[in-house]
Amino acid sequence: MIRSVVRGFGAALPKRVMTNRDLEDLVETSDEWIVQRTGIRQRHIAGEGETTASLGAEAAQKALDNAGLTIADIDLIICATSTPDNTFPATAVNIQNRLGMHHGFAFDVQAVCSGFVYAMSTADLHIRGGMVKRVLVIGAETFSRILDWTDRTTCVLFGDGAGALVLEASEGEGTNADRGVLTSQLRSDGVHREKLYVDGGPSTTGTVGHLRMEGREVFKHAVGMITDVIEAAFDATGTTAGDIDWLVPHQANRRIIDGSAKKLGIPLEKVVVTVDLHGNTSAASIPLALSVAAGDGRIKKGDLVMLEAMGGGFTWGAVLVRW
Ligand code: UT7
Repeated sequence: MIRSVVRGFGAALPKRVMTNRDLEDLVETSDEWIVQRTGIRQRHIAGEGETTASLGAEAAQKALDNAGLTIADIDLIICATSTPDNTFPATAVNIQNRLGMHHGFAFDVQAVCSGFVYAMSTADLHIRGGMVKRVLVIGAETFSRILDWTDRTTCVLFGDGAGALVLEASEGEGTNADRGVLTSQLRSDGVHREKLYVDGGPSTTGTVGHLRMEGREVFKHAVGMITDVIEAAFDATGTTAGDIDWLVPHQANRRIIDGSAKKLGIPLEKVVVTVDLHGNTSAASIPLALSVAAGDGRIKKGDLVMLEAMGGGFTWGAVLVRW
């Protein structure tokens, strides 16, 4: 059977680093509160000329270089983002143009913080359906541009960045020993849409709007939703927590990450954490974390890696992949 195998990875971060101390000058907050409640110590913030598409294109080019491929080898670009450069066209098309690709096709996926998991699943279906051979799967965000910088309950949490993977069709045996995506489990429930949303949009206010979140409400649902969907991935593949080499979670809050790992029985040494360095970069957080952990040699070829995310919508999901 056809499997979607990871062939390359890459990441891009804006030049400017904003520490918790820097935030103390903007709102009534403290480094101590932010670290204690979230685990975040710093985040990168996009400057002039740095956009979701520019960061996405940089991460994508690095993923191509890492894979030993050129843009000519790619059939499809999927970009997960909730902070597109323009309302339309899709940021993926902007990235396609920046990379000099004039064949194939490109589109965006919008599932907020779960965007990368949704994009991986969508790429996997296109590959396994035989429609394409190689896909650039990108998560790219500039959440700094939709934050209310006077609201301390949200502005301290988010950061900007991008990450990308190259997925490639490869023949597998149809067992869990195969490299590539082994299962994806996706969920959403719009009943929760007002707990984490942006208060503007083309069809309502005609403005971009700002991010609004009932943090405590999101927190209350997060661990349960994450563990449910990971257990569904275990059930679908007959694997258990003991088989996992690395858990690479969406990086929103250290307490949610630790709580989920504990509930699943995955030791913290097997969890990749980058929330301290990047903050919550929404759809970019998983490919950024993958690039850090694959880049420093922790994630190796053949490792069983669980990706998971939960965010606005609510949306949530998990992808089990053998690296
Ligand atoms: O990525 C998508 C999903 N998003 C998330 O996963 C976020 C989920 N939520 C969270 O991570 C947490 O709920 C937060 C980090 C947002 C907040 O942590 P919390 O432990 O739930 O704090 P809280 O909202 O219950 O606030 C506790 C106190 C409040 O003061 P009072 O009402 O107890 O007097 C807040 O006003 O902390 C206050 N507070 C702050 N203090 C200093 C809120 N924000 C800040 C701040 N600095 N930045």
